[in-house]
Amino acid sequence: MAEVKLVGITKKFGDITAVNDLNIEVKDKEFFVLLGPTGAGKTTTLRLIAGLEKPDKGEIYLGNDMVNKWVPAVRDVAFVFQYYTLYPHYTVRQNLEFPLKSSLRRVSKEQMDDIIKEVSKVLHIEHLLDRQTVNLSGGEMQRVAIGRAIVRRPKVFLMDEPLSNLDAKLREEMRAELARLHLDIGSTFFYVTHDQVEAMTMGDRIGVLNEGKLLQVGTPEQVYNKPDNIFVAKFVGSPVINLLESEIINDKLVIGRKGQTMECNLTDLQCRMIGKASSRKVILGIRPEDILITKERQEKNSFKCSVYFKQSMGVEDILNLKFTDELIFRAIAPTRMLVNVGDIVHANFLMDRAHIFDANTEERLELKS
Ligand SMILES: Nc1ncnc2c1ncn2[C@@H]1O[C@H](COP(=O)(O)OP(=O)(O)O)[C@@H](O)[C@H]1O
Ligand SMILES: [Mg+2]
Repeated sequence: MAEVKLVGITKKFGDITAVNDLNIEVKDKEFFVLLGPTGAGKTTTLRLIAGLEKPDKGEIYLGNDMVNKWVPAVRDVAFVFQYYTLYPHYTVRQNLEFPLKSSLRRVSKEQMDDIIKEVSKVLHIEHLLDRQTVNLSGGEMQRVAIGRAIVRRPKVFLMDEPLSNLDAKLREEMRAELARLHLDIGSTFFYVTHDQVEAMTMGDRIGVLNEGKLLQVGTPEQVYNKPDNIFVAKFVGSPVINLLESEIINDKLVIGRKGQTMECNLTDLQCRMIGKASSRKVILGIRPEDILITKERQEKNSFKCSVYFKQSMGVEDILNLKFTDELIFRAIAPTRMLVNVGDIVHANFLMDRAHIFDANTEERLELKS
């Protein structure tokens, strides 16, 4: 079994706490994505699992083994780095053979040929085997780098933003291929990225990391539809979620703090969640796709706005809508609605899709049952 378990892991570099009391449990054969901005502690986490760094506190388990004291070579994990680490003047075949020649393994020439044949087939690099890696394109190099990790058949793959140096189109292709590769080889993947699209499309589960702290773990659907706090809500989703300063006043959510405000009816569930407090400052989080655009005014939670910016995305337009100079937000309209800059439209807030966060703690308000 190849679970990866981190229990209370802390790693400091001088004054900087790179990883702060991290608890993660990755299941056998799971594709787990650790998502976070630059400096969040993602690479450090991978290096700790690989044994390239030692934790100041906590325990690391691979399967049933506590591996804190194990050297990297015996941990049976493979690391794919952000930058290709190939030997430039060797051929692809030689690069793939290299990990099999370690003194820890005894692989015969025939076995080696078989493994390389199989791996190069999986990665579609059979035709490149005799080329020098220095002559390969970025995408081809990254495939070979992944191939080098696979030949050893490790139980766990650690991947550090392996697609971040590829152009957009290739990145999209490789996302699909990595997901397929994961299914094909049935290993546990611990994948690190700052790209929320990668996380959402590839991960069985996502952990969101910021400043060394794990903020939420869940399926892509859970993280997207029920963000635990404002950071997660903002980090996942594109176009980015609207966050509007609001106040709860007697069963109403009043958006905007001064001048003209927008008043929404809360759902019954939201009323129960907030309780009887007569006034409370909150942040309303509402995703652009949860604001419905209509030409006619709707019955409730509907606000007359002007379109002041439009970004056409093909099937849909991202609109920046202006209620007042202070109250501007994004919504999505289908392109066939033919909305143009300067038009007057009605923005309907789908309140059952809204997220309400405490203005001070920035945590999601939840029904305490
Ligand atoms: N070897 C190191 N020495 C000092 N600081 C480090 C070292 N490695 C990482 N850090 C710091 O730890 C924090 C987390 O870094 P890192 O794990 O590389 O983040 P990420 O991969 O998410 O961008 C950063 O503030 C970084 O500067
Ligand atoms: Mg990094």
